[in-house]
Amino acid sequence: MMISGKARVAGVMGWPVSHSRSPRLHGHWLERYGIDGVYVPLAVPPDRAVEAIRALPALGFRGCNVTVPHKEAAAAAVDRLHPVARRMGAVNTIVVLEDGTLEGSNTDGFGFVENLRAGAPGWRAADGPAVVVGAGGAARGVVVALLDAGVPRVVLVNRTRERAEALASDVGGPVDVVDWVSRETVLRETALLVNTTTQGMVGHPPLDLCPDALPDGAVVTDIVYTPLMTPLLAAAAARGLTTVDGLGMLLHQARPGFAAWFGVEPAVDEELRRVVLEG
Ligand code: ATR
Repeated sequence: MMISGKARVAGVMGWPVSHSRSPRLHGHWLERYGIDGVYVPLAVPPDRAVEAIRALPALGFRGCNVTVPHKEAAAAAVDRLHPVARRMGAVNTIVVLEDGTLEGSNTDGFGFVENLRAGAPGWRAADGPAVVVGAGGAARGVVVALLDAGVPRVVLVNRTRERAEALASDVGGPVDVVDWVSRETVLRETALLVNTTTQGMVGHPPLDLCPDALPDGAVVTDIVYTPLMTPLLAAAAARGLTTVDGLGMLLHQARPGFAAWFGVEPAVDEELRRVVLEG
């Protein structure tokens, strides 16, 4: 694809950034829609993140994605914060507005819920409480998104209880913290189980949680997507439950940024999944 002097420019800022699948993802969309644009990896060390973000308008960037470890720094560096990003204290998408100011939003939770709705069309937020396992940055986005979607109650279980308590008090709303030892007892009343930890990822042990106590109609999802079928999802599928893998969260969280920078609402489909998995 030829890039002209008028090409729209965006990218992903991280440290390291070489593992990011976002250039492949956005690159595929740019090609598919025939857009004169580029999306580049931006390897920026932590002590230069604010400087790099503030330089985006001067460099003519339309904006960028922000990944680990810059999401919190980005929340402090932008001129305007979307309310969801403010609640999360983290930004994953920056848009340079017409007047050269920076707007920060966080689309991780949006990506999570869109993936869930696509993968489990029968799931309704009002179906019942959700159990969220983990209390890191990823859990924060998931909890905020579930509450905003209308889940009546989120039950948070984390190996380290204090982290779950800190998350619950930061986020507010109907979030109950339950001890790690009780993680299987709470499943009986649960409509949705979400793993937000790194357990089950390639190179990590499986999540130490058996989903068998979940009711028959429950949905189980994992934000891990390497492998697509984590041991948790495999156990849930064997129990006859609906499962949703984590790849779609990555794909759907990218949609709002692409639309803002390049002017096209992109589609998430099987071809995109294949392209991103090959990377
Ligand atoms: P991120 O911010 O990307 O979500 P993180 O801050 O490293 O990542 O959080 C990882 C999550 O996995 C945490 O909830 C962590 O639990 P602790 O708060 O107790 O550390 C959880 N986790 C990591 N290893 C775990 C294990 N062996 N068993 C259970 N939970 C684990």
